[in-house]
Amino acid sequence: MSADEVFFKWSPAYSVNIKTIDDQHQELVNILNRLFVAVSKREGDKVIAGILDALMSYTQTHFTLEERLMRDAKYIDFEAHKHEHKKLLEQLDQLCKKHLLEEKPIYFEMLSFLKTWLKEHIQGVDTKYSQALQQAGFSVAAWEREASAEFALMSNSKKWWEVWKAA
Ligand SMILES: [Fe+2]
Repeated sequence: MSADEVFFKWSPAYSVNIKTIDDQHQELVNILNRLFVAVSKREGDKVIAGILDALMSYTQTHFTLEERLMRDAKYIDFEAHKHEHKKLLEQLDQLCKKHLLEEKPIYFEMLSFLKTWLKEHIQGVDTKYSQALQQAGFSVAAWEREASAEFALMSNSKKWWEVWKAA
């Protein structure tokens, strides 16, 4: 695969039918694609560290918002889903440390792990909560209006996109 090819191509099949969540999932895919290009083109440790930082920060922001949605909607499998998020953050943190401290060539291993994880998570448990919420009659549209404002504030405080742009 050359660096000009798209590593993780977004497909409408990944939609969970909640725009705010879909947008964030697509942004995670964008960051993974950016990481793929940086690794393929050997853009250097500083650039890669910046992208990893953005990936970590955006993943945390996204999980926080998704967990807030499930909690607000009193979703029955909330705790189990939250646990999946926690596990991924720990794995991601380990992979980042492995790269940053030990400088092991783990990028491609990390990329394929994250791609598979994200795909399976979206099409599995994320789709499951989205369907459950909509079947229970939870007003996702009203929640989204409120959440969008909160998300803007969270993004502001994290400034993740500045790291992203610099990369
Ligand atoms: Fe999730």
